Amino acid sequence: MSRTFNYGVYGVGRIGKVHAAIVREQGHRIVAIGDDAHDAVVVAQEELNARDVRTFNDPTEMARALVGEIDAMIIASHTRDHARHTLPFVKAQIPVYLEKPLTDDLREAFEFVETIGRDPHQLQIGLQRRYDPALLYTKTLLESGVIGEIREIRSVLRDQFPPPPTYRSRGLIIDMGIHVADEAIFFLGEFPNQVWASVHQTKGYNSPIDEGGDTAFVSFTTPSNVVGRLDLSRTHSSGYNNETYIIGTRGTIHTGRFAGYPGPIHVEIWQADGTKHPASKTFEMSYLQGSYPEFLPRFNIAYRRAHQQFREDVESGAPFAVTQNEVLDAQVFVEAAYRSAQQNGARYHLQRFDDLQEYKAACIANGLLSATSTK
Ligand SMILES: NC(=O)c1ccc[n+]([C@@H]2O[C@H](COP(=O)([O-])OP(=O)(O)OC[C@H]3O[C@@H](n4cnc5c(N)ncnc54)[C@H](O)[C@@H]3O)[C@@H](O)[C@H]2O)c1
Repeated sequence: MSRTFNYGVYGVGRIGKVHAAIVREQGHRIVAIGDDAHDAVVVAQEELNARDVRTFNDPTEMARALVGEIDAMIIASHTRDHARHTLPFVKAQIPVYLEKPLTDDLREAFEFVETIGRDPHQLQIGLQRRYDPALLYTKTLLESGVIGEIREIRSVLRDQFPPPPTYRSRGLIIDMGIHVADEAIFFLGEFPNQVWASVHQTKGYNSPIDEGGDTAFVSFTTPSNVVGRLDLSRTHSSGYNNETYIIGTRGTIHTGRFAGYPGPIHVEIWQADGTKHPASKTFEMSYLQGSYPEFLPRFNIAYRRAHQQFREDVESGAPFAVTQNEVLDAQVFVEAAYRSAQQNGARYHLQRFDDLQEYKAACIANGLLSATSTK
């Protein structure tokens, strides 16, 4: 480790406190905490034993006060506030670790990227799968060609429990779906060309917030004719479930089949003769003490690696690996899925362009954005 970072954190609910605790455990300092909700700041100060830090209830004021004093910000407020809360810090040239998604509104996402530009040195998005050892190993296997060409991918993300009462979400397709939408783009190396989806209310689900459904299935195809599916729910009654099943022309890879929670994360490569390939490997989750959010055992290591990489990139001046650019693509993908689910599974066509104006025009033409500023 090189120098000690001074961090500010804005948005200190479940995950904001997790991030703060992680970077502190990694030897860095939290010097300021902020949240629109004063009560959240008070609770976080108590839980993090951080009563003497500076506190804020406004991100613009926080950025103005802390420029030159902090090395980085972590932003983990409500999804709908992410872009608005991040902008003052980006403008002050403070590197930001920003929780996913970029916002819950595609027009705002485009406007945000138009405002800050494509430069990948400004913010790293909290899409922690990009730093997860089992998933990175899976990516290496795919690149080695061990299962041939990819025919089909199925990514599963299922919470066991509903979100907390403080949570605000435009629906699980936008909110959770962004993780596996990005994972699919990352593994396939291509962007979907058609998307369709459905959302469901299953039996016996009681949530303190209304997300319009607790289970969703998102289907898609890609230009090279991969077929894919994202399975999302908040109802996996036996534990938090993240698995990815990829069928190639010469075999399959199954990463993270449910094997207890917390439990082992198997990366199984199955060959054409039905036997397991010797490069199959098992990774471990974290076995934690006390109380913790349900996602922490599975992604504790990934969050830690993401923060370490973030600091290394800040220090070396290297581009961040997952930025406003990657999350914008995932955001377009889930917007199409969300709209499809609202319209009985209507198929949406997607196109991606590096040029933002062309990209936005394609989203308008494909029915993902209105031509005017109404949503
Ligand atoms: N990358 C991941 O694995 C991951 C996991 C969870 C959440 N997230 C993202 O992080 C963001 C925040 O999610 P979260 O789970 O932390 O939500 P949360 O509901 O716990 O916190 C969000 C906001 O709710 C308010 N709040 C929370 N606790 C409060 C309290 N005790 N009193 C008053 N107000 C309170 C605060 O304004 C806080 O910023 C979301 O955008 C979500 O999508 C990412």
